[in-house]
Amino acid sequence: MDKNTQANVYEFKQKHLLGLSNYSPEDILFVLDQAKTFREVLERPVPKVPTLRDKTIVNLFYENSTRTRLSFELAQKRMGADVVNFSASQSSTRKGESLKDTIRNISSMKIDMVVVRHESPGVPHFLTRCVDAAIINAGDGAHEHPTQALLDMFTIQQIHPDLRGKKVAIIGDISHSRVVRSNIIGLLKVGAEVTICGPKSLMPANVDTLGANVSYNLDETLAWCDVAMALRIQMERIGGTTDLFPSLREYHELFGIKMAHLEKYPDFMIMHPGPINRGVEMESDVADSGRAHILNQVTNGLAVRMAILYLLSGGTRI
Ligand code: NCD
Repeated sequence: MDKNTQANVYEFKQKHLLGLSNYSPEDILFVLDQAKTFREVLERPVPKVPTLRDKTIVNLFYENSTRTRLSFELAQKRMGADVVNFSASQSSTRKGESLKDTIRNISSMKIDMVVVRHESPGVPHFLTRCVDAAIINAGDGAHEHPTQALLDMFTIQQIHPDLRGKKVAIIGDISHSRVVRSNIIGLLKVGAEVTICGPKSLMPANVDTLGANVSYNLDETLAWCDVAMALRIQMERIGGTTDLFPSLREYHELFGIKMAHLEKYPDFMIMHPGPINRGVEMESDVADSGRAHILNQVTNGLAVRMAILYLLSGGTRI
């Protein structure tokens, strides 16, 4: 069956998006396919569709976020949903209310979907047992960040439409990143190859079980890849210690992408989930170069989130 026929008959049965480990390769490709339509909507003079007009969504953010939160909120508004924002720092959480009580109270207000970011892995899963609403994981600790991986795959597809056999290098703090975990799971499911690269001290203990190749050599990795995705060092999860590497300067020397790499290897595209630390993960000029797709990732994030909100609200095919 060709891809188009398959997309037309495909029945998306997921109720939540907790992580990509629960999604089949077909689910992932279907979401990416739907996102293409929403990406086109975003190019229109009035970039709005009324598909969530009768839905109420709560954005529950217990952890700092700029991009992801704005992206979800904008996606919801572009689709006409009623949106309520909840931020842990301004809520009764500060008064000692438990997560379960908070969500049950919010749920009594008849909500259809919850987008949640929390520092503890497993919170989105836990919420599925407390309320009836569809739950979308916007990042749970160092566990998963599925919409980021979906938007990353969508961005790669714009340059390499067939993800099978594509070589994706993910460089940086592998140990503390949820972005890398969701990307490895998703990319391997759709047939891409993944190499993770970084200092040994920033590799997780179970590195051999992730299914990705492992490299400690940036130059070799960049020579190999079609896509180089750099990750921020997650200082907030490391707990402020710099014991894991001598200094940010040395980290940049060994693992920062430089203009010299772009000249030496003329093909790979550069990505970063943000926020970027210029001069650490990459030279500032690299981030601003034509090889970087970082701002496009942000626009694509909106389209991918519109697609996932649409599908989880019961939409079939746009
Ligand atoms: C990522 C995250 O929050 O995990 N950022 C994001 O969602 N745009 C990566 C990061 O914080 O480094």
